[in-house]
Amino acid sequence: MKQSIILAVMLLAFITSMAQPRPLWYKETKEQKENRMQWWCEARFGMFIHWGIYALPARHEWVRTYEKITDEDYQKYFDNFDPDMYNSKEWAAYAKKAGMKYMIITSKHHDGFCLWDTKYTDYKVTNTPVKRDVLKEMLDAFRAEGIRVGLYYSLIDWHHPDFTIDNIHPLSIREDKDELNKKRDMNRYREFMKNQLRELLTGYGQIDELFLDFSYPGENGKGRDDWDSESLLKLVRELSPHIIIDDRADLNDTNWGWDFRTPEQFMPQEWVTFRGEKVPWETCQTFSGSWGYYRDEYSWKSVHQLIVMLIETVSKGGNLLLNVGPTARGMFDYRTIERLEGIGEWMKYNSRSIYGCTQAPDGLKVPQNCLLTYNAQNNRLYIHVLEWPFKSLHLDGFSGKIKYAQLLYDGSEVRFREVAPGKDGEHTHETTREGSVMLNLPVQKPNTEIPVIEIILK
Ligand code: GLC
Repeated sequence: MKQSIILAVMLLAFITSMAQPRPLWYKETKEQKENRMQWWCEARFGMFIHWGIYALPARHEWVRTYEKITDEDYQKYFDNFDPDMYNSKEWAAYAKKAGMKYMIITSKHHDGFCLWDTKYTDYKVTNTPVKRDVLKEMLDAFRAEGIRVGLYYSLIDWHHPDFTIDNIHPLSIREDKDELNKKRDMNRYREFMKNQLRELLTGYGQIDELFLDFSYPGENGKGRDDWDSESLLKLVRELSPHIIIDDRADLNDTNWGWDFRTPEQFMPQEWVTFRGEKVPWETCQTFSGSWGYYRDEYSWKSVHQLIVMLIETVSKGGNLLLNVGPTARGMFDYRTIERLEGIGEWMKYNSRSIYGCTQAPDGLKVPQNCLLTYNAQNNRLYIHVLEWPFKSLHLDGFSGKIKYAQLLYDGSEVRFREVAPGKDGEHTHETTREGSVMLNLPVQKPNTEIPVIEIILK
């Protein structure tokens, strides 16, 4: 016993000593952070957009590394990038209709291609047949729909001449890579990143979220020292004090180097925690596996799966950032449109169970085949019924807690009975547990993908 306590104390001391000390420039209190993040926690649902010249090969945004493509061979995608059907207003309208409250666009991805008219490289959209600053247009169009905007910025850059060739670089198979690396200077690359971030955060209006991507520390990888992460964060926070930053700059052992966690392409089992505390989190998910447009990918998730994903994320206190990979012509693929419209149709009637909602309070048992969300501001509980049951839904432990219940879809009353086993004169009594409430549902499932019952709690 004594030994294990000593061990635990030693372990804690070790962990604390490993942690990065809080820098002097970071002064925010917990409460200030909560205020800064309030809109984001209420929004719950955003659109990720991965768009760049990798839309032309249409075989994944990592195609350069996967196929070890040289700069010369990748050039044809740059030269032919001509999205003649691109209409940012149309994109923004799709996001709005789907119920998305914010968007994040890839200003630069790992291939180094920049979607804006940057001063710091020629490898940018204005030098392709497009000629226009599509990023500017896009941000304006989304803002005009009342959607908050954020930027994804790749820390990795496979085009920049000073970015050293590491284990995920497309040139990693070159035998002379050590020789090549001698001429590359990460100091200059770090300066380049700062310049670009300054440019983005000062010339493109208010940017609400920054998604830096990503670190892979270790031998032949890159992490906080390669990016100079602390200085990056300091710069970003100085330029945009309100901005919300992800957790991929390799500062995850600190409590100042990130605002939220980013589980990617999987559903966490429960609310994501850090040192035992629940923290803000945003899961980013794709429709079909890759982020950039991938013509021949067939593992598309159904509308039903995506709606469940959104509900489940909120039921665990998180945000869902759902990705769209527009085509080389600047269009949303028909499968994307189908899904956005399907989600939008559901959100039209049921978004009250998503916005401003979070995990249900402890002690309320989740009914069979259901997911719960909860709005603390008005004390309403949302029961998402994944499989529509026959006539009754039993709510264990809800006795005395319900003021009123209705179907969210059409606002029609859902009658309920507090069940006292043994005293009840009906055939139901023997099969119902003490302290539970029985909701009386219509036999036919309401005409919405996943019906929601809104419970106004006492
Ligand atoms: C990964 C991938 C990248 C994608 C990102 C989205 O980090 O490298 O291609 O943009 O996830 O979160």
